[in-house]
Amino acid sequence: DIPENLHPRPPIITIMGHVDHGKTSLLDAIRKTSVVSGEAGGITQHIGAYQVKTESGAILSFLDTPGHAAFTSMRSRGANVTDIVVLVVAADDSVMPQTIEAINHAKAAKVPMIVAINKCDKPSAEPNKVRTELLQHEVVVEAMSGDVQDVEVSAITGEGLDTLLEAIALQAEILELHANPDRAAMGAVIEAQLDVGRGPVATVLVQNGTLRQGDIFVVGEQWGKVRALINDKSERIKEAGPSVPVEVLGLNGTPEAGDVLNVVETEGQAREIAEYRKAA
Ligand code: GTP
Ligand code: NA
Ligand code: MG
Repeated sequence: DIPENLHPRPPIITIMGHVDHGKTSLLDAIRKTSVVSGEAGGITQHIGAYQVKTESGAILSFLDTPGHAAFTSMRSRGANVTDIVVLVVAADDSVMPQTIEAINHAKAAKVPMIVAINKCDKPSAEPNKVRTELLQHEVVVEAMSGDVQDVEVSAITGEGLDTLLEAIALQAEILELHANPDRAAMGAVIEAQLDVGRGPVATVLVQNGTLRQGDIFVVGEQWGKVRALINDKSERIKEAGPSVPVEVLGLNGTPEAGDVLNVVETEGQAREIAEYRKAA
């Protein structure tokens, strides 16, 4: 066996929580306060996966999850590509059904959780009510002498965002995450659609290895050859290493969210595996 060439990799953080508790707003605000997105400005959000660099230089990969109930199954898969869950709970609405669902997903996947108590700018905010209700679901936050980090934030004013990023970076350090950028790439589909101009497009989170232009791959029941890779700032890139979210063009069909992508040696192999899976 060839020894694995392991390198530290950025953590993959999934933002979860009840509908309208501010997941997307929080991610937007994080991107604005971060160095990388600060440079880019006015980026269109066509994919729900972003990398940001904190002021202290840590790179973090974030996944947004849609709040719609129809995406529950994708969200549960999301927890499996995730190193850290940030549970967003609106301080004016407290713990709701999808908050509990997110807690259960994180627990089932054994993924550490950080609680972001959002909308603390609102006069009706009751952060302590959130903490107490979380207790009923066996989430004991630090403010209640537990070991789950909790941070009061506002996506609107930006309050607490630096503290939240520090909490994430601290949790990531504890996890000691590694990957081998030299092996054949594998990753997970975050979302995919048939684009009128570009054909099938998949947003893939590379979990191990490096995905390159020209690579041949199988993804679920589909296969393809990487025609182009586009990063979260809509730039064409030649390769995407571990923990990098990237749009992949060159698919022969549209895969499903949650499908696994594996780079293989030949088109023949790719086709054969895809056909076999379709027939199964
Ligand atoms: P879904 O993806 O639909 O589940 O929603 P979401 O969790 O992504 O929430 P979203 O970011 O769409 O925010 C929902 C609403 O809450 C929007 O009107 C936001 O402007 C508002 N909102 C989000 N964060 C805050 C906050 O910190 N303070 C206040 N006052 N409003 C907020
Ligand atoms: Na919303
Ligand atoms: Mg959203």
